[in-house]
Order: sequence, then structure tokens, then C-alpha cells
Amino acid sequence: MLFDRNNLPANLIQQAINMPKIELHVHIEGATQAETFYELAKKNKVDFGVESLEEWKSFFEFKDFGHFLQVYTKSITALKTPEDYTHIITEFYRQQAEQNIIYSEAYISASFIIQKFDTKEILDAIEKGIQQGSEKYKVKINFIPDISRELVDSQMAVAGFAIEGFNRGLFIGLGIGGPEQGFPPELFTEAFKKAKSNGLRLVAHAGETEGAKSIWGAINTLGAERIGHGVRSLEDPKLIQYLVDNKITLEVSPTSNYALGIIKNGDMHPIRQLLDAGVICTINSDDPAMFSTSLVQEYFLLLKQGFDCKELYKMNLQALKVSFACNETKAKITDQLENYEKNRILFEPKDK
Ligand code: ADE
Ligand code: ZN
Repeated sequence: MLFDRNNLPANLIQQAINMPKIELHVHIEGATQAETFYELAKKNKVDFGVESLEEWKSFFEFKDFGHFLQVYTKSITALKTPEDYTHIITEFYRQQAEQNIIYSEAYISASFIIQKFDTKEILDAIEKGIQQGSEKYKVKINFIPDISRELVDSQMAVAGFAIEGFNRGLFIGLGIGGPEQGFPPELFTEAFKKAKSNGLRLVAHAGETEGAKSIWGAINTLGAERIGHGVRSLEDPKLIQYLVDNKITLEVSPTSNYALGIIKNGDMHPIRQLLDAGVICTINSDDPAMFSTSLVQEYFLLLKQGFDCKELYKMNLQALKVSFACNETKAKITDQLENYEKNRILFEPKDK
């Protein structure tokens, strides 16, 4: 796995890699490597309309949100059998473990899944991926099916799918992603209401390509407990105050924001401003394979923007608190974190 460590002192690089980490916003499909999609497309006889892996990889490089969604949607067409999901889930466990990520919450794009598969069959395949992954790698992952906004009509079926998986102990919540423009939160109240009444936790992408209004909607009409991205909350001081007062967490993904043009390249990422205002933020990779990043690289990026390891570590403790993990899991992960702290000389001062 590629870690961009340009110009960072060796001790910081090592600390960022070794530090046990928590990630709460990462998409299974967006974490799947271009090569894996290419191989699956070949196996399943899906025509990507490219002549070579190189051409497919260059299609992965995008400039804006619209193109990103095209890449995402096209890649998913390669996933044609339940076993393909078992495979990408097991791969995902490996990738998280390689980065010392000990706890994750991962989105799975359910609007596409429910179009293609019988519910029991795909849940069995997901369960198998979870079993294989957790047997092999020391990482706990909780899954959150999400509705793709552009597929408004899929919402109740996704909610049903999420509830069925939740009742089998495979999922913990319901999310929503995809294009905010033209698909406001208000369109999805029914699915969220149903999920909530069945005990699922709620989260929504908002305030990424749209402004504060979209975040207010996610909170007030969907009941979102955390917000995916939410960086545009800074456009509304009242919203910032509301997030602080109600401890609503933002799942921040810096590289994703730069890659999709939400934040201009060369500008500092506003996560510092959000933290200074008292907003709880977590650090995430979103779609690491598609943005050529990883959680470790997100740490490098923030170290380059003036964060230190101690601060990043504390953000992990906070992330665990705001996670949807059950108390037993939280206690186990806390033990692992405490062990790490005890046994390391951590947080040496930054090199000049
Ligand atoms: N689905 C996967 N990544 C996403 C993002 N950054 N925004 C909205 N939907 C997504
Ligand atoms: Zn996302």
C-alpha cells in the first residue's frame, strides 16, 4: 500500500503507521482497488469499455463529483455475484489491518445490491466475508448499508435490507450517500424513520457538495446522529453552534475533499477551524482506492498541516466514543488503545 510520506520526519511516519486507529467513514466499494474491479469485470464478462488495466486506472482519475459518481457506479457493475462481495469484504479487512486500524465503520452501497441479489443470498455472502475477515485479521468492522440519493425509490427496500442485516447482527445502521444536489434529505424521511424505529443508528452524507441547508435537513428531517463530511457547516455559524451543543460529529475526509474540489488544492483543510470551534471531527479515507489514499496517508496530510501525533491519537479516542459500537466492543477497543499507550514511548516532540 502506498503511503505518501514526502518531507515528513521518519519518527512521525512510524508513529502514524503504528498508532492504532479508528475509522468511521469508508466505503467498501470505494476501498476496492482498481485492479480488483478490473479482474472481477473480466471474470464476470462485464465490459468496462477499456482496452487495458492502465486505461481503466486512468478512468479512475477524476476532477469533479459527477465524474467520481460515474467511476463509482461503473466499478460496481463488476460485482455480479454474492461471492464477489465476500471477496471485497475480506480484502477490506486486510487493508484495514495493514494500517493498524483496529475498529471501522464501513458503508456498503445497498441501493445497487438490492437491485441485483436475493436478500438472504447476499446477506449470507456478506456474513461469510465478515467471518473470514475477522478470523484472519485483528480488526473489528461494523457495516452500514447506505441509500444512493439518485435512487430515491430504492429507499424503503434498502431500509428493509438494512433491518434484516441488523437483525442478523451484520449491520449497525443506515446511511445515505450520492449526489446531494437535486436529492435533498427530505426525500428520505420514510426510510430513516423505519430504520430508527427498528433500532438502527443513523448517519448521512451532507454538507459536501451542498451547503448548510443540507446538513440541517439531515439532522432535522432524517435524525442523523453523525454527518459524513459536513465541512460546509462553516458557512453557517448557527449550525456550527448546534453541532457543538448537540455533539454531532463530522466524519471528515480531507483527501476526498481535495480530490472532488470541495476544498481547493493548496488551501489548508478546514478541519482545524472546525476543531477550534469545538466541533467533534473524525479522520477518514472515504473512498481510499478511488482517491489514491489510505487512512495512514490522511494522517500524513494532517501532520503536514500542523497536527501532531498526540492530537491525532486523541481524535481516535474521541472517534471510538462517537462510534456506533456496542459497549462490549468499545471496552475491548479501549483496552487495545490503553495497552498501546502503556507500552510505547509515544508522541515525541515534532522534528524541526
Ligand atoms: N459515496 C461514496 N463516496 C461518496 C462521497 N464522497 N460523497 C457522497 N457519496 C459517496
Ligand atoms: Zn463517503
